[in-house]
Amino acid sequence: MSTGISGTTEKSSLAKLDSAELVSSPTDEIDTNISIELITEDDAEEVLKMLKKFFFKDEPLNTFVDLGECKELEKYSTKSLHEHCSFKAVNSRGEIVGVNINGLINRPKETDEPPAKLADVCAHPKFKKIMALMDHVDENFNIFDLYQDVDRLLDIKIMSVDSNYRGLGIAGKLTDRTMQYVKDNNIKLVHVLCSSHFSARVMEKMDFQEVYKLPYQDYLVNGEQVFDPAKPHVAVRILTKRIN
Ligand SMILES: CC(C)(COP(=O)(O)OP(=O)(O)OC[C@H]1O[C@@H](n2cnc3c(N)ncnc32)[C@H](O)[C@@H]1OP(=O)(O)O)[C@@H](O)C(=O)NCCC(=O)NCCS
Repeated sequence: MSTGISGTTEKSSLAKLDSAELVSSPTDEIDTNISIELITEDDAEEVLKMLKKFFFKDEPLNTFVDLGECKELEKYSTKSLHEHCSFKAVNSRGEIVGVNINGLINRPKETDEPPAKLADVCAHPKFKKIMALMDHVDENFNIFDLYQDVDRLLDIKIMSVDSNYRGLGIAGKLTDRTMQYVKDNNIKLVHVLCSSHFSARVMEKMDFQEVYKLPYQDYLVNGEQVFDPAKPHVAVRILTKRIN
């Protein structure tokens, strides 16, 4: 697929990064000279290493279920890299300190078979619980019903920033680059499912609108609440932004 972006590197003047000087130990290890770059298949190993260190442990639902090793999430994390629409934040030591893993989704054709339930094909018992929640969201909200004129969208599948680099606007810079990609490629809609209050904040700050919300206390299986992540993570929310 032609992306219109070929390994470009962008030096970002991350204004908020000045505040990194205020971060306590290990201050001297935080390198605020960050570039935003396209992720290619060659980055898969480094991306996974970073996600295993952070996202696999600190995304609120992964934390709640104490996910541990998860080959299914590893596969999900890398399967769209060949589409060349995912981006990484890299410090001057070449370390990945943040990623937006994105994927392109086409409107299903009327003749398509309904997709298999994610939970039904997931062998990992803890990840299966999260997949069952995703199936529930899919059953209750169809993005293509809401946007009848949209045939292809970009889904921000994973957003993760190194815990030493949070609160500095890096996820916003990654999303800025994602927005540039969709504009360059004539994609009319960006979609993100936020399980975290912090990722929803990133999107709100970028004028994304909420189109679906499911409080964790309202998601019941056999009458029981399944997820109760630490505050302030209280709901799964889908936010979108149209590109004009
Ligand atoms: C969600 C995430 C990618 C945001 O990245 P970021 O670069 O820190 O984003 P921002 O700098 O814009 O901060 C977003 C919000 O995080 C919170 N935040 C600020 N400083 C923080 C810190 N040091 N540590 C944690 N969260 C912080 C704030 O609520 C902030 O919103 P505000 O600007 O309105 O105060 C990051 O928190 C993360 O990797 N979380 C764990 C993985 C995860 O949950 N991913 C999203 C799943 S949908």
